[in-house]
Amino acid sequence: MKEKKVFICSECGHNSPKWEGKCAVCGQWNTYTEEIITKSTKSEEKKQSWRDSNQVDGKPILIHEVQQSKIIRLDLEDNELNRVLGGGLVPGSITLIGGEPGIGKSTLLLQVALSIRCDILYVSGEESPEQIRMRADRVGIKNDQCKIYSETNLTKVLKQANSTQPQILVIDSIQTLHSPFVESTPGSISQVRECTSQLQSFAKETNTPVLIIGHINKEGHIAGPKILEHIVDTVLHFEGDRNHIYRILRTKKNRFGSTDEIGIYAMESAGLREVQNPSELLLSQSDEDLSGSTVGVTVEGVRPMLIETQALVSPAIYGTPQRSATGYDLRRLSMLLAVLEKRAGLFFGQSDVFLNIAGGLKVQDTAIDLSIIAAMVSSLNNIPVHSKICFSGEVGLTGEIRAVNRIEQRIEEATRLGFEQMFVSKYNLKGVDSSGFKIQITPLSKLDDLISAVFS
Ligand code: TYD
Ligand code: MG
Repeated sequence: MKEKKVFICSECGHNSPKWEGKCAVCGQWNTYTEEIITKSTKSEEKKQSWRDSNQVDGKPILIHEVQQSKIIRLDLEDNELNRVLGGGLVPGSITLIGGEPGIGKSTLLLQVALSIRCDILYVSGEESPEQIRMRADRVGIKNDQCKIYSETNLTKVLKQANSTQPQILVIDSIQTLHSPFVESTPGSISQVRECTSQLQSFAKETNTPVLIIGHINKEGHIAGPKILEHIVDTVLHFEGDRNHIYRILRTKKNRFGSTDEIGIYAMESAGLREVQNPSELLLSQSDEDLSGSTVGVTVEGVRPMLIETQALVSPAIYGTPQRSATGYDLRRLSMLLAVLEKRAGLFFGQSDVFLNIAGGLKVQDTAIDLSIIAAMVSSLNNIPVHSKICFSGEVGLTGEIRAVNRIEQRIEEATRLGFEQMFVSKYNLKGVDSSGFKIQITPLSKLDDLISAVFS
């Protein structure tokens, strides 16, 4: 065995013999970490050239001759998770669930392990069996078939799985596992990569689905190289704000289904609860009209939901004005403020601006722009917006209100929740027959239209 020292970029997995400040491949700074790689000194399998012999291995098949086998998916007894996976867990598949520490990944998978009526092996390298038992008691689901195993050595884990032959294998977490075939420490890039590929071979050879938990680093990537996301079949992200109760499970990649579906949960004192009807929870309970509070109609994945957006604009007392956003991209907030200054003549330069999306959810749909702008203008001028009004539209750099996708679904959801008026982009109404709507639809083409329609 020969030992070799290399430096690996934690973003893209590029190897370099010496440390470098900036990765030559992905351009990220300060991402190289030192790792020891043990190489077998046995001569490599002799490389053959295609000229060497006429012998051919295997044979290509015509696509229409490929036998289609119907995939029988495992029902995980959790509607949100089943939907996100594309209708259940596919045998032999490998799924990665990423999220920040403390967000609820272990709770989610332990709940699945307890609810499902089949043999499951829950391997934890993070918690002792006593701690897992305590969590199970808290969640309050009884199950005699759920087996737990505390171990961090991958070979032992796979031997155990091979002898117990579970129908599902859960690994909590990939960063705590280590394979004796690789020298570096658990959680290092080469360990994470090696362990994942061994788990993948196990999944494929035994047709056992494997669910892997992975922690996320500060940039929102699963710690370790991107290569990890390439190896697995499905990548799910569990996100939200630890101080709030709502969590969203998003699909980043899915070889067996669409990546549009999301799952919504609420973290309560007895574990995670599926949220069927997100809008009703994300709207504020008060009927009073308050300045700075508006309702945006968003679509996350394929699900429309109404979310309250709150803005507080107040004179900046201490030097540089502050900008803060919870659940929304801070750079996009700066962009919206610049558009308001340039295109609508509203100045925020002397004001602190705080923005909050109800429930601590991270909204990715840009259709929330219009609602955010309305909330900021409402707070700036201290004019409340009626609580039965909602907004859905993207705001462009020239102050134009742009069309958004799935407009009919959004209108339907707003109507269902009893809203009386909805502001949308005028470009959205082309070819849409609005005569049948029970809600008043007001089309807007630019920011000035919004300001004159709502605030004057
Ligand atoms: P956990 O599943 O340990 O997070 P992760 O595995 O992603 O690191 O979740 C831990 C948090 O969830 C912890 O702060 C306590 C909270 N929690 C509840 O609020 N209710 C519960 O029933 C459980 C089990 C945890
Ligand atoms: Mg955990």
